[in-house]
Amino acid sequence: MSETVHPHQQASSLWTSRMAFILAAAGSAVGLGNIWKFPYITGENGGGAFVLVYLACIFLIGVPVLIAEIMIGRRGGQSPVATMRTLTNTEGTSKGWRIIGWNGVVASFLVLSFYAVIGGWSLVYIGKAALGLFVGADAEAIGGQFNNLLANPWELLLWHTVFMAIVVFIVGRGIRSGLEKAVTMLMPMLFLLLIVMVFYAMSSGSFGRAVSFMFSPDFSRLTTEGVLIALGHAAFTLSIGIGVLMAYGSYLPQNINIAKTAMTIAVLDTSVALLAGLAIFPLVFANGLEAGAGPGLIFVTLPLAFGQMGGGIVFGALFFALLLVAAITSAISMLEPVVEWLEEHKGANRVKSALAGGFAAWFIGIGTVLSFNLWGDVHPLGFISFFEGKTVFDLLDFLVSNVMMPLGGLAIALFAGWAIRREGLAEDMGLKGGAFKAFMVILKFVTPAGIAIVFLYNLV
Ligand code: PHE
Repeated sequence: MSETVHPHQQASSLWTSRMAFILAAAGSAVGLGNIWKFPYITGENGGGAFVLVYLACIFLIGVPVLIAEIMIGRRGGQSPVATMRTLTNTEGTSKGWRIIGWNGVVASFLVLSFYAVIGGWSLVYIGKAALGLFVGADAEAIGGQFNNLLANPWELLLWHTVFMAIVVFIVGRGIRSGLEKAVTMLMPMLFLLLIVMVFYAMSSGSFGRAVSFMFSPDFSRLTTEGVLIALGHAAFTLSIGIGVLMAYGSYLPQNINIAKTAMTIAVLDTSVALLAGLAIFPLVFANGLEAGAGPGLIFVTLPLAFGQMGGGIVFGALFFALLLVAAITSAISMLEPVVEWLEEHKGANRVKSALAGGFAAWFIGIGTVLSFNLWGDVHPLGFISFFEGKTVFDLLDFLVSNVMMPLGGLAIALFAGWAIRREGLAEDMGLKGGAFKAFMVILKFVTPAGIAIVFLYNLV
């Protein structure tokens, strides 16, 4: 443990309990990735075998980085940028590692810019479901509703703005009265809503088929690409590699066991993804929809199901409310590194920092809003064949999810595994004896190799 008390490590700014930190970190991890993305990539990649590989990636690659990142955050006790600056000095490592901090602040900020746009869709869909707009609509009409939304820049901009305003409001109130209050209310609500949805799905008739789709592995349906998608998604869904957990970790009290906490977070995150699958696939199968329908799975196929089922208005609105909650608790974590950085480096107070950071991310988000309509044919890097046909949104998503997150995760694993002093490390991570030794082997070799493979694959 470090001897100096860093700014965030003062008693008054720490999370009030282990539970509060777990809910906040799990709130960050559980997001659109779990409820929107996991089901559709599972559907596209054939189910059971993909899920099995995904689970292995979570525990062999995700959890080690999670532990390392939180530990680094607590040791430094400041914004990711200042934490890395301090640690490269106190640990006597190369200054080059400071790139981890910068990468985090920039990447989390960029991811927020487009995440808020998609988060806005869930606001729209709560309204559509509650107003009964799906009732009796056929596939074409529902697909049309989704396309109309994407085609309307003003509507997208409006909901992007509302979503961002909610995020800024929560973050501006600070760790204890903002983030902590929000997550301790929202996360249990999310679990509850999800369980209600799974129960509903159980009674829908195709639950058995969904369970066997998700849990009986058929390896003939798994491709190499599927393995790599599973690996990439494991990093995204745990929010690792982009400073978010480092920022949250900076407020973590010293007496909390990081290894145990990280494990709990990973288990919660994974449970939500699996529950989301169990809530969605029975509806998909019961309504004769296509499991491999792609990114439109929940926005195009589920409303169809909600429109046909009894109680569809309530369950539909409930489902999209759940998506909103998940998206908000993730989005607030994305704003945190930027806010900490603004507070430290610009001396602004928390409210001003949240407003400034949120405004800038909102502004960049306009590029994503326009990517679905007016700028649909604008391909900024289109002259490079690799980026052909990619919109501003596609480029941002690619840059963050496929470049900055994996490289950040890789750097964190290497920094914690090879660069920093071993002394006190086992204690800091909350591991002892053999478990620590085994863990270090994974962190030094298995995790970096795994990430390096996905990264190279994504580039080719
Ligand atoms: N983990 C979040 C999700 O699954 C996304 C996220 C990425 C959150 C990066 C914070 C940082 O949706």
